[in-house]
Amino acid sequence: MLKTRSCGELNAEDVGSRVTLAGWVDRRRDHGGLIFIDLRDREGVVQVVFNPELSTQCHEVASQVRSEYVVRVSGEVARRPPGTENTKLPTGEVEVIADDVEILNQSKTPPFYINEDAEVEESLRLKYRYLDLRRERMKQNLLLRHRAVKFMRDFLDARGFIEIETPILIKSTPEGARDYLVPSRVYPGKFYALPQSPQQLKQLLMVAGMERYFQIAKCFRDEDTRADRQPEFTQLDLEMSFIEKEDILNLMEELFISLVEALKIGKRVTKPFLRLTYADAMERYGTDKPDLRFGLEIADLTDIAVQTDFSVFRSAIAQGGEVKGICAPGQLGLTRHQLEEMRQVAQTAGARGLLTISLGDTGGSLSDLTMDMVKSVAAKFLSLDQVRSMAERLGAKPGDILLIVADKPEVASTTLGELRREIGRRFKLADPDMLAFAYVCDFPLLRWDGELGRWQSEHHPFTAPRPEDMPLLDTAPEKVRGEHYDLVCNGYEVGGGSLRIHVAELQRKVFRLLGYSDADSAERFGHLLEAFEYGAPPHGGIAIGIDRLVMLLAGEETIREVIAFPKNQSAVDMTFNAPSPVAREQLAELHLRVEEE
Ligand code: AMO
Repeated sequence: MLKTRSCGELNAEDVGSRVTLAGWVDRRRDHGGLIFIDLRDREGVVQVVFNPELSTQCHEVASQVRSEYVVRVSGEVARRPPGTENTKLPTGEVEVIADDVEILNQSKTPPFYINEDAEVEESLRLKYRYLDLRRERMKQNLLLRHRAVKFMRDFLDARGFIEIETPILIKSTPEGARDYLVPSRVYPGKFYALPQSPQQLKQLLMVAGMERYFQIAKCFRDEDTRADRQPEFTQLDLEMSFIEKEDILNLMEELFISLVEALKIGKRVTKPFLRLTYADAMERYGTDKPDLRFGLEIADLTDIAVQTDFSVFRSAIAQGGEVKGICAPGQLGLTRHQLEEMRQVAQTAGARGLLTISLGDTGGSLSDLTMDMVKSVAAKFLSLDQVRSMAERLGAKPGDILLIVADKPEVASTTLGELRREIGRRFKLADPDMLAFAYVCDFPLLRWDGELGRWQSEHHPFTAPRPEDMPLLDTAPEKVRGEHYDLVCNGYEVGGGSLRIHVAELQRKVFRLLGYSDADSAERFGHLLEAFEYGAPPHGGIAIGIDRLVMLLAGEETIREVIAFPKNQSAVDMTFNAPSPVAREQLAELHLRVEEE
C-alpha cells in the first residue's frame, strides 16, 4: 500500500505513531514559516504541518502543491498545540508533522470548489461528476446507499432469500412504460428489450421452485425524467411462494424499521406502518401517495354546497361533480399573491377554478363569526350557517382560509391533493426528520383508458384479482379490486407489488380483458402462460425503488443526488455525453439505417 493509515481515522490515540498518508489537498495555508495542508481521503481530512526548520525540502514541495493535487506524506502524529484544536473536525485534536512528501499527481484548478457545499449548477456537476463525488455531501450519499443496500442483502439472506441475477437482454413485453430496444446483429430486424423490471423472470423463478428470491435489479423505462424518475434505476426486487399478502407487508415493515434504526441517521419512522385503502387515500389526500407527516385533510362539502345559491357549486353538482375543500390555517399567513399562485396550481391540476373563503379572525370561536368578516367572491351567495358548516367540516377556525374546488369528482380530489402538497411544501409543514411510511391497498385492478378505449392494468397484468371480486371480472371489471399494494413514504411511491395470478386460465382471461387476443397473448407471454401449466405455486412479491428510498433517507430532493452517474433531466448522460451518434458501419452491422429528420 502507498499509505499506512487513512487521514480521517487519526485521533489522540495515534499521537506519537509514524504514519504514511495519501490523498488530495483539500486546502493549503501558507503562514510564512509554516505551511498547513488539509489532506483528504475517503475517510476524512487531517491537518499536515510542514516546518522549514524540520525539512526545507518538504517545505519546498509543500509550497508547490495546489488544491486537488494528489500527495503522499509521511510523518509523526502529534497533539495540536493547546488552543489550536479544531472541535468541528473528527481529527481536530491532532496533526501530522511531515518529514517526507511526494507529489503523486497534479490537478488543474477544478471548475468548482470541492471543499465547500456551495450551490453549483447541476450541468457542471454532472459533466465533472468524478469531482462532484469528491464533495462531502455526495460521498456521504453514496456511503449511505452502500450501507442501506448491504443491510437489505444481509436482512434477506438471514430470512432465507437467495440473490439471483436475471438477464438484461430480454424480450419486449408491454408492462406499462416504453421499452429500450437493442437491435440484434445476428438476427436482422429482431430486437432484445431491456427489462422494465424482472417481473416475469422472478415469477418464473417461483415456478422453478426458488421460493424466496431477491435481487438488487437494474430496470429500464423510456419515460420522461423527473425528480424521482430516471430512465434507468435500481429496485430491491423480491418474490416469495406460498405466502399471503400480510407476509410481504410485515416483512417489508420489519426491514425498513430496522434499516432506519441501523443507519443511525437521526430519522424517526412511524410505527406500525399506516394502512390506507386506495379509495380512502384519494378521498382524504387526493393522491395515492400522500405525505402523511401533516394534516390538511380534504373534506367533502357537496351536501352543504348544494344548498347554497352559488351557481358554480350548483352547476358542478348538477353535472355529477363534487364540492371539496381543505383548510389553510391562518398562522400560515397566506397572502393575496400566494392565493393567486394557489389558483394557478389548481388550474394546472385541471380544475376550472379555486374558490377561497377567508374567515375573519374573531379572536374567538366560529360562533362569533359574522358575515361581514367573511371574504369571498361567493360571500353574497352563502348564508352564515353554510359558511360555518363548511368551516366546521374542514376543522377551520376564525382566521383560516377555506380552499374549495367544485368539479368532476376525480378533478376535485386530485386538485386539492396538489394544493395540499404545495402548501405543505411551501410552508414546511412536514417534519424533515420523520419517515411516514404507509401501505396503500385495495387498488382497482383495472383503469379505463379513454384515449385507447380499453382497460389498462392499474399495476401490471400479472396482479391477481381479489378472490371475492372474481365474479365481477365478467360483469363489472371497474369494480374488481386487485391484490396490489404500494408502499408510500413522505409523498413518494417507494415500492409496489402484488399477489400474482398463477393459473394460466385466469391469466388468459385478464389478458383478454386488456384487449389481447389469445394468439396475441401466446406470442407475447407464451413463456409465462406455458410455465403456469407446470405446477406454478401461489406467489407474490414487491419491488422497492432504491433510489427513491435512499433519497428520502438522505433528505435529498431528487434521486439524481443518490445515483453516482445519473442522467440529467433530459435523459442525457453528461459525463459521457450519451446518447451519441454511432458510425455508419456499426449501424450497417445491426441492419439499421437512420432516417434523416
Ligand atoms: P413498479 O413499476 O411499481 O413495480 O416499480 C416499483 C418501484 O420502483 C420505483 N420506480 C422508479 N424509480 C426511479 N425511476 C423510475 N423511472 C421508476 N419507476 C419505478 C418506484 C416504484 O414504486 N415489477 C413490479 C413490482 C412487483 O409487482 O413486484 C414493478 O416494477 O419506487
